[in-house]
Amino acid sequence: RKAPSRRGSMHDVPKDLMQQIQQLEQQFTVPTEKLLEVVDRFVGELKKGLSKEGGSIPMNPTWVIGYPTGDEKGTYLALDLGGTNLRVCEVELGEESGQYDIYQSKYRLPEEIKSGTGEQLFDYTAECVKQFLIANHEDEDIRDMKELHLGFTFSYPCTQNAIDHGVLQRWTKGFDISGVEGKDVVPMFEEALERKGVPIKITALVNDTTGTLIASAYTDPTTKIGCIFGTGCNAAYVEDMGSIPKLEHLALDPNLQIAINCEWGAFDNECVVLPRTTYDKHIDKTSPRPGQQIFEKMVAGLYLGEIFRLVLIDLYHNPDVKIFEGQNIEALEEPYSLDASFLAEIESDPWENLMDTHALFEKTLNITTTEPERKLIRRLAELIGTRAARLSACGVAAICKKKKIDSCHVGADGSVFDKYPHFQARGAQALREIFGWDASVRQDPIQIVKSEDGSGVGAALIAALTLKRINEGIH
Ligand code: GLC
Repeated sequence: RKAPSRRGSMHDVPKDLMQQIQQLEQQFTVPTEKLLEVVDRFVGELKKGLSKEGGSIPMNPTWVIGYPTGDEKGTYLALDLGGTNLRVCEVELGEESGQYDIYQSKYRLPEEIKSGTGEQLFDYTAECVKQFLIANHEDEDIRDMKELHLGFTFSYPCTQNAIDHGVLQRWTKGFDISGVEGKDVVPMFEEALERKGVPIKITALVNDTTGTLIASAYTDPTTKIGCIFGTGCNAAYVEDMGSIPKLEHLALDPNLQIAINCEWGAFDNECVVLPRTTYDKHIDKTSPRPGQQIFEKMVAGLYLGEIFRLVLIDLYHNPDVKIFEGQNIEALEEPYSLDASFLAEIESDPWENLMDTHALFEKTLNITTTEPERKLIRRLAELIGTRAARLSACGVAAICKKKKIDSCHVGADGSVFDKYPHFQARGAQALREIFGWDASVRQDPIQIVKSEDGSGVGAALIAALTLKRINEGIH
């Protein structure tokens, strides 16, 4: 149960590169003491977000009340508008407790939509829903589908006064779509559906983390937190109403259990504790929303490849270092040209000669690498990936400390969690250091595990829970 060790010998790496590797190690390594400092501050910031004064972390109440029982039934539509893809699903909640069937179609979100207008975004999304319904309900008329209930997973920070409303606080994950921030996205999307002749109403607006939490709790009741480690990074957990001072004015039952979408990507926007490098600062400054999502910009998939790219460019221009000598690095100079899967591929390369990395650099960037260069590249990928996993684990630890949770499962989803080598093991190692768990214990008390499909099944379950509450007259 040791963290993945550093293999590969560095003995043939020239001195200038070796010095750079050591400097990068210093900049990107997060020692245990730093983890503890980050967690401490994180706990305070989570509490601040729930207070009347508020803090950087939004801590958005979601109006998802309690956990599913496992007996939820019915067929629901689920729509997932994340950061990279758009997915439409039809989910049949189980004949048997805790089971489900799902049919789905995925659509790529065209790049230009991310900086277009709200109307373009919602029209495109509504068109995908329409196409899905036409394909899956061949002999029915869409206009007769009023009875379908839609759980809309919209994975951006929203202020919700009710589960079927949500005012977008701000775009994150590089989105920069005009005319939506500060507005309720539900009527905007319903109007787009209407324009397309699809008469469906939104039953619940859901964050992907909340969906993940509920979907995981449905099949594994020991789940207490839902996390996304993907294009963005965030978590949700269930809070007692009595611990949310900012909702005190509603005078609700203090024992009511309500899911909170933390939006922890905004942690440390005031930049007091995170060990930021010049590369992190550059990413923030050149992003569409400088000063926001400071934590997310260090740990989420959208940024990992970019951090890596910036370091390599910096080295290339450093007169004390010889790297990619005499080569044209035009392709590397394109911002956001490398995504996290590029680093994942480098980290999957067996150490001997790093020939996969060699091929990857030739194919993607038209750069021929020497073996010592590849050793630096590999080490850099490890440093960036490890830092992301360790800092992300601080958020999980902070929620557990805040809630005094000693043991639980954390349901996790997202491309980084699923596809980035060692991400899970590195996060687990960080949790051991933070909590001081003895390595001889057979199982870690708090474990981050692969979740059920949050934005499909989770959104459907939340729609089901909402309808049940409406039927019971508690809305
Ligand atoms: C960003 C979004 C948040 C979402 C996360 C993961 O942080 O602001 O709502 O949960 O990405 O997709």
